[in-house]
Amino acid sequence: MRTQVGIIGGGPSGLLLSQLLHRRGIETVVLEKHSREYVLERIRAGVLEHSFAELMREAQVGERMDREGQIHDGFYIAHGGIKKRVDLRALTGGKTVIVYGQTELTRDLYEARDQAGGILIHNAADVKPHDLASPHPYLTYRLGEETVRIDCDYIVGCDGFHGVSRQSIPKEKVRTFERVYPFGWLGVLTRTEPVSPELIYARHERGFALCSLRSPTLSRYYIQVPLSDSVDNWPDEQFFDELRRRLPAGVSEAMITGPSIEKSIAPLRSFVIEPMRFGKLFLAGDAGHILPPTGARGLNTAASDIHYLYHALVDHYSQRDDRGLESYSQRALARVWKGQRFSWWMTNLLHRFPDSSPFDERIQETELAYLFSSEKALALLAENYVGLPL
Ligand code: APR
Ligand code: PHB
Repeated sequence: MRTQVGIIGGGPSGLLLSQLLHRRGIETVVLEKHSREYVLERIRAGVLEHSFAELMREAQVGERMDREGQIHDGFYIAHGGIKKRVDLRALTGGKTVIVYGQTELTRDLYEARDQAGGILIHNAADVKPHDLASPHPYLTYRLGEETVRIDCDYIVGCDGFHGVSRQSIPKEKVRTFERVYPFGWLGVLTRTEPVSPELIYARHERGFALCSLRSPTLSRYYIQVPLSDSVDNWPDEQFFDELRRRLPAGVSEAMITGPSIEKSIAPLRSFVIEPMRFGKLFLAGDAGHILPPTGARGLNTAASDIHYLYHALVDHYSQRDDRGLESYSQRALARVWKGQRFSWWMTNLLHRFPDSSPFDERIQETELAYLFSSEKALALLAENYVGLPL
């Protein structure tokens, strides 16, 4: 079997790249180790920056996003029993974000690939990239007893943090940068009316909390918990009691609770690998970097990788111009680190660190007081939240 671009991983990064390249007549094969149902069951974030939404429209997969997604002009930060609004539209000259679940977005991409007759191979076991430093790389995977080989011009690793792509790069060829935070997010999804039409990020002495949503009838709530904690320690009632304690009175009183339909703990980590390329292999999305969810950057940074790689591959195939491919890693990493900085800053601003000193806490309080006393500081926050220029 032969294709132009072999893509490992059928998550949002792999599917979006496959759809964009298809629209420019470039062939791809996507190898996904799990079933489609498994991929679509995962509950992930859902705040899209405007350039991501633009990319979805360019891929002709934006119709349902624009119909069902919610445009958010702002969000709130709550601390000290009050909540203050960050007016994204006013602070950025009109830019906003779209709240649309990653699960729905991935579902739309699958449908678009099906309609286009895209080659998506699920349950592909033992996917391996080979000869990455040679002019003729190839992929192998196992389907049942049969081992299949796919010859490619290029291989793109969109297989997430635990994928095979990054592992296949010789250690001496890369550097990794990591910060593991001493806490996680316990997230709950409920079929209830969201407590607020806009997101509320809360800093509280008992720890961080976030009120988010998926639709007018689907709420997503998070509380900061120790990394060692377990979902079993958090029956729904206890979760909502703790969430309410961390929110301003007006918000907690308005909270409509209900049985959780999903509940999980996600660790918080900052991770980057440099470079995001080895020979004919390019890394994109979570395969190359993990951002703590506090800045709503994970999915958006994956999309910016895809933006750069898509244009670089189009330039290669349409004009034999490889400057985009040559500069892909450097350009993608420049935006990855800006997203890392912002997510790290939001995480430090809003979470309670177990080893924080009274001095650290004063600095956090002062950072928030400064933020809401300075239009310039708020504009800086807003500019990063809506998405920095590509
Ligand atoms: N072979 C084939 N597929 C694999 C392999 C492998 N060895 N390892 C992992 N995969 C698949 C996973 O099953 C998953 O479907 O690769 C896909 C990677 O998808 P994601 O983890 O969603 O990563 P990405 O597409 O880059 O999306 C990044 O996802 O986790 C969120 O916050 C993150 O929002 C960001 C987005
Ligand atoms: C979510 O809705 O899951 C969500 C929103 C914003 C974040 C993180 C997660 O920063």
